[in-house]
Amino acid sequence: MSNFDSAALARQAVAARKLAYAPYSRFLVGAALMAEDGSVYLGGNIENAAYSVCNCAERTALFKAVSEGARRFAAIAVAGGAEGTPEDALPFCTPCGVCRQALYEFGGDELPVVLAYGDGQHKMMKLSELLPLGFGPKDLA
Ligand code: THU
Repeated sequence: MSNFDSAALARQAVAARKLAYAPYSRFLVGAALMAEDGSVYLGGNIENAAYSVCNCAERTALFKAVSEGARRFAAIAVAGGAEGTPEDALPFCTPCGVCRQALYEFGGDELPVVLAYGDGQHKMMKLSELLPLGFGPKDLA
């Protein structure tokens, strides 16, 4: 795993929950994606009256980063919970299956995924633990 401050990235994910537009689920998710050069891209979930159009925080951050030229990433941190949940009571929020696949394209098996919860606590996993046997660019080579 690359060298980065996982606690700091987790805090940025918690702060990124403020960016969420989630008037339907009222479940606010924040993501902080660190590119290899240390730049951090933040994202919140973006919902839509046509529910199927909702975009998760992780993909908001990923698409911001990729659309600005970033291709390789050091880590992503995620924090989520119902609106009004105090930061010291946030549960684990794990990336959905679609986000795991989207991240796999650029992060591969080794991408560290920092799951923020509670008051400044976090758990770190590799993407391969969340998405075993992922299908990615290598499979089309
Ligand atoms: N959501 C995320 O943004 N990321 C996750 O990891 C899980 C779910 C969003 C999607 C939707 O806007 C809301 O949380 C409830 O599912």
